[in-house]
Amino acid sequence: MIESNHRRTPSNGAVGAPNPIQLKAELSLKRLQPRLETLWAAEQADEKLTHEFDVRLAEHWPELFELLFDLYGNRYDFFYHLEQILLTAATAWLHRPESLRNLDRQRINEPDWFSSEKVVGGALYVDLFSDNLGQLRESIGYFKELGLTYLHLMPLFAVRPGDNDGGYAISNYRSVDPRLGTIDDLRLLADELRAAGITLVLDFVFNHTSDDHLWAQSAQAGIQEYQDFYYIFPDRRIPDQYEKTLREIFPTVRRGNFTWHDGMEQWVWTTFNSFQWDLNYSNPSVFRAMLEEMFFIADTGVDALRLDAVAFIWKEMGTSCENLPKAHLLIRAFNKLARIATPSLLFKSEAIVHPDDVVKYISDEECQISYNPTLMALLWESLATRKVDLLVRSLSHRHELPKQTAWVNYLRCHDDIGWTFDDADAAALGINAYDHRQFLNRFYTGQFPNSFARGVPFQENIETGDMRIAGTLASLAGLELAIEQDSPEQRDLALRRMLLLQNITLSIGGIPLIYLGEEWGMLNDYDFVMDPAKAGDTRWVHRPKMQWEFLKDLGDDVGSRDGSIRKSIFRSLQRMISVRKSLPALSGQAMELVSTGNPHVLCFLRYHDGHRLIVAANFSEFPQTLTGNVLRTAGLGRFFQDAITGETFRTSEDLHLQPYQYLWLSRV
Ligand code: GLC
Ligand code: GLC
Repeated sequence: MIESNHRRTPSNGAVGAPNPIQLKAELSLKRLQPRLETLWAAEQADEKLTHEFDVRLAEHWPELFELLFDLYGNRYDFFYHLEQILLTAATAWLHRPESLRNLDRQRINEPDWFSSEKVVGGALYVDLFSDNLGQLRESIGYFKELGLTYLHLMPLFAVRPGDNDGGYAISNYRSVDPRLGTIDDLRLLADELRAAGITLVLDFVFNHTSDDHLWAQSAQAGIQEYQDFYYIFPDRRIPDQYEKTLREIFPTVRRGNFTWHDGMEQWVWTTFNSFQWDLNYSNPSVFRAMLEEMFFIADTGVDALRLDAVAFIWKEMGTSCENLPKAHLLIRAFNKLARIATPSLLFKSEAIVHPDDVVKYISDEECQISYNPTLMALLWESLATRKVDLLVRSLSHRHELPKQTAWVNYLRCHDDIGWTFDDADAAALGINAYDHRQFLNRFYTGQFPNSFARGVPFQENIETGDMRIAGTLASLAGLELAIEQDSPEQRDLALRRMLLLQNITLSIGGIPLIYLGEEWGMLNDYDFVMDPAKAGDTRWVHRPKMQWEFLKDLGDDVGSRDGSIRKSIFRSLQRMISVRKSLPALSGQAMELVSTGNPHVLCFLRYHDGHRLIVAANFSEFPQTLTGNVLRTAGLGRFFQDAITGETFRTSEDLHLQPYQYLWLSRV
């Protein structure tokens, strides 16, 4: 439901009488109806299709209207934009490929299909993984072998020449980067993935366009209509006022959030790189234009759109311009329009912000799924400290989500690690958040004594002491160090750490997301500095090219620890994924923490439909003990079996966990 419930109260106190906003909504739709009829007639639309549209419109219109009215109702031309938005949605439905309309019809009845334990995700860059979209089709067998059912392709649309922020500086949302292929290649890939049971996730980079997008070019040519698509200012007066309350996201790129444009001789709002121009959503033309792009992208065969940089899409003077209430209204409006025109489409939130703000984007009215940056950061925190207290504290009040939504649990992605845990959660445990972040930064850059990690700093801010961490899972978990030191012991520990972390993302509730390359222990690649378009951005250290030659010797001795390290990682992860899929208790989000009295052991119960599973994980390199009684009371039984190894345990004895060992225990 929309937050502003107060406006729904009938003004005259009569039960059931529509409130003023609902009356406005009804009247507007009545007035717009003839426009819709004209469109249907012009398009010679099938009656069955228009009927389906009308049913959904009737259901969602009142809320959509209210959202748009909140956002744009004070504009003199509100009604014009309302009409345009409605017609855009109607056209989108008519032109939607029939195969996707069938998917829509199916998913309306199973809106939380993504909560299943059978869903396992992967993310990759097309060029780095397989050169192009055509060749990526040939990797479908590989994804199936690993057990993936969800694939996020990093941005693959046309980009500006030179630095393009890994695809996030888009110059045309309707054409694929020619180096990767064509829109038809994308459509073909989506079809083949679907046939193989793999859903497709693409980015909706809607906070900004590249400086060479047609809209930005038109702005540069001096066309006012397009200058109004962005935040453009003739002098520093207004930027300086905004700047007083803004954070700097990329301080090593440029100080502040605005970039001087020589051609226009004006300042442009650029939250990220100077060539990424923030769109101005206070202008309804921008909303409608991006809506069209969204429908276009959805129709290539996308199941979920990753809403990039969601936190930044609404700006107001005197605020941080992050996570503002109207950012939520905007996403809800996009969501409503998807419900009407592309109902199977899901949104995934990319809000790498304070945990209190992360959850605000998650609901079936907004983003149904969301990155879980707090879990990600705290898993790394636990690995460094060998203690799970901060993780447990955070999980205790932050894991639960609204119905029909899910976390996307990941360890690494194409971006950095920021220590976005809550300071108060830390303080409650006597941890000073500032000092702790300093420690974590030193630890993960390998500067802390005996650190096993080999990460590198990203966006170090000398003024604030702030820093984020870049590096691959394997390098951060100790494999790079083990190889440097040629140490079989370190190698074994690194392997255990990687699998321990994967074990948690595979079991804690939500969609596990593997950043491809993790499955064989991809290390940092320091050669990015040779490419001038990449040298300034250390995140490229964890975006290496896929090394297929490493995978030639995979063999089929599942679970073996004596083969190559890559083989061990791959086979162990593959096995864990397939075991996950066999455990109905891992469906959904329900999770209860189990207190063990042991500061190194994370233990929780997962349950669903009468199935129960206890996960126990040792975050230290020393053996740990759990009393059998803990298991007995949480698992309601006396004999348990680990689903991964088949080993059995009795609660009359203590449970001994090896270094970094994890167990998935169910009653036998
Ligand atoms: C998102 C992306 C990141 C990019 C930024 C700007 O945070 O994940 O890679 O730099 O948006 O588009
Ligand atoms: C974006 C950036 C990421 C940064 C975050 C900060 O997600 O990609 O690097 O940490 O914003 O809010």
